[in-house]
Amino acid sequence: MFQWKELYDECLNCSKCELCKNRNKMVFGEGNINADIMFIGEAPGGDEDRTGVPFVGKAGQLLNKALTALELTREEDYYICNICKCRPPKNRNPKEEEAYACLPYLRNQAALIKPKIIVCLGSVAMRYVISKEWRITRNRGQWIKRKGVYMMATFHPAALLRDESKKKFFWQDLKSVKARYIEIKNK
Ligand code: URA
Repeated sequence: MFQWKELYDECLNCSKCELCKNRNKMVFGEGNINADIMFIGEAPGGDEDRTGVPFVGKAGQLLNKALTALELTREEDYYICNICKCRPPKNRNPKEEEAYACLPYLRNQAALIKPKIIVCLGSVAMRYVISKEWRITRNRGQWIKRKGVYMMATFHPAALLRDESKKKFFWQDLKSVKARYIEIKNK
């Protein structure tokens, strides 16, 4: 297991999969490294690849707006990163070999942060972090506890941009995350 600096450098110099060829910036993650909550997305999009910061594009802004309304901030309450640290071409889903090449970095991040709550944003993160058996429409909002960590999946914020009817479920799920967070803090 690497400490933060070495881990960051490993990711920066990574060439374990094809995605390294087209990256402008590696998108490592952002937020409080001692946070109780860890959000995990899929992979960087164009805005993230340009800036090196996760969830800064349209979908990210939507997520940030919802989290800000719940008074959850990157500075204090959560850390956010992705399954893949480099952008897939044309924002396609990461291939299985790309996700598996990158997952050890994510596991290392989680081992350093030791979050009490992990929230998967969308079906790709859900598949690799929680279960291949789960379906996002069926299992979103459902809590499981694994090795003492509460885990949940909700819709990816980009899905809300395509289908407004998902917004109410997304909001419901994030409120459940906030409730769990308060419960944990008061323990
Ligand atoms: N979508 C993701 O899954 N991650 C990002 O960082 C941006 C968009």
